Amino acid sequence: MPRKFFALTCMALTGSVISLVSGCSNTSKQKCSVAQSAKKCNIATADLSIIPQPTAMATAREEFFILDASTKIKIDKSLYDGAKFFVNRVSNAGFTPAVVTSCTTVENNSVVFAVDNAIGEEGYILEVTPKNVVIKASTAKGAFYATQSLRQMLPVSMEKEVLNITAIKIPAVKIADEPRFKWRGMMLDSCRHFTEVSDIKKIIDLMAMYKMNTFHWHLTEDQGWRLAIDKYPLLTEKGAFRKDTLLTHNRTLGKKDAKWAGKSYGNFYSKEEAKDIVKYAAERFITVIPEIELPGHSVAAVHAYPWLSCEGKDKAVWTRWGISDDIYCAGKESTFKFLEDVLTETMDIFPSKIIHIGGDEAKKNKWKKCQLCQKRIKDNNLKDEHELQSYFIKRINKFVQSKGREIIGWDEILEGGLAEGAMVMSWRGTRGGIKAAKMGHNVVMTPGSHCYFDHYQSKNKANEPLAIGGFTNVAKVYQFNPTNGLNKEEAKFIQGGQANVWHEYIRDQKYREYMIFPRLLALSEAVWTPMEKKNYDDFKKRLEKHYKRFDTLGVNYRRHDKK
Ligand code: ACM
Ligand code: ZN
Repeated sequence: MPRKFFALTCMALTGSVISLVSGCSNTSKQKCSVAQSAKKCNIATADLSIIPQPTAMATAREEFFILDASTKIKIDKSLYDGAKFFVNRVSNAGFTPAVVTSCTTVENNSVVFAVDNAIGEEGYILEVTPKNVVIKASTAKGAFYATQSLRQMLPVSMEKEVLNITAIKIPAVKIADEPRFKWRGMMLDSCRHFTEVSDIKKIIDLMAMYKMNTFHWHLTEDQGWRLAIDKYPLLTEKGAFRKDTLLTHNRTLGKKDAKWAGKSYGNFYSKEEAKDIVKYAAERFITVIPEIELPGHSVAAVHAYPWLSCEGKDKAVWTRWGISDDIYCAGKESTFKFLEDVLTETMDIFPSKIIHIGGDEAKKNKWKKCQLCQKRIKDNNLKDEHELQSYFIKRINKFVQSKGREIIGWDEILEGGLAEGAMVMSWRGTRGGIKAAKMGHNVVMTPGSHCYFDHYQSKNKANEPLAIGGFTNVAKVYQFNPTNGLNKEEAKFIQGGQANVWHEYIRDQKYREYMIFPRLLALSEAVWTPMEKKNYDDFKKRLEKHYKRFDTLGVNYRRHDKK
């Protein structure tokens, strides 16, 4: 993508770039003369602090474009859905430049969003000179990412209030940018603890600011079924509620250290709410991938409809953590009918090409004892219960494919044979992902070591809120390279990376944000920025600016250098 890019090579990182011109200050355009130093290539990639670091960027210190009420914003219609975010933000300055969508010829004192079909789907070029601002992209999505870079160049105070200023100085810069990976994701587990719709939207906004494009939404679990399904109303009437919640680690069970909430817990998303999230995310160029877990992690569904299990007995929705023995019966046709119905309704809500079907941590002991499951093994000449799991996933895969969609599953779906065309989400390290890539399957890397945001962020655990374990600080996330261990050919199958935010102990938004920020920013750079442009020391400097933005936006974050 941005093939025709600039020759500037000086990439220092100093100096302040944004300032406001307020009240009766001189807003004359002549003030922004070309700095002598810039001519001598004493060019600073000023303190633009963009995260993720763009693919290529250079700036001429002391050159600015002055945006004021006389500036014309010219937007190609096809880019409008991305560009409008810039228009909305500028309106926070307190003045309203004219917006035209009929012509995009570049003229002085204009901000132009123009089409350039040589640029890739998610890429953009952004050039700010004292004369104008020119954004080029081939899609509204690329234009949107340009607006997110521009947003990070605008005063922090514009995030929130309407300012009473007459102009904004935007630093001269030239950026040519495109992502390293297609899949830049984060998963929220809204089952162990529920995430309010407004909180999801806040997180989607923040994901979008960092050019993340995939929101993986974990919706069914042992501890609660969270998505309304018309054909099976008991899934949410019964399956969305549990009697209590363990507030401590599983290892405290049966000991005096175990603490319980002592009250029931539950909630679910109506179809309208889920569709609203899909729409909200789509407007910010984020795809929502729903996850309907199978064949394990199914206790809440079994509580609603006990016939889904091998034994056909009721099971209380789980109040503790860990891996349950309960599993959908693979021997009954009614199980597949149920799952096909659920997936059909799910696909009606979520237009994503990819549907997550779970597949992890499915214990096989119930299948070993179930006559129907054993008959299924025999009738299909399967070797064992691992091949039965593979049979299960392959059937679901075929169904999902018949609807024009594709499946992704946790790396356990490799066991017993991988379904045709299935994508693999590698979480038990990268081994499963590497194996799948070598087999020619698409892969999303999300190894626990670097991508599990339910891990502690400090070795000093006593000073941290309760987490599942592990140690994954910002520096560790930053080191994440999704193609580690793969040759060039194999690396082509790596679609990207993703953070997973499991919610056993994350009970509210404040804690959620503490676990996500700024680790998500480190991940965004790991999945967007070319390896050779990554620099952790520089990232840490840029982070400081983002902390200020978070303060303004009311985001609860954990400073990377907190002890
Ligand atoms: C997982 O963390 N069980 C996918
Ligand atoms: Zn069975």
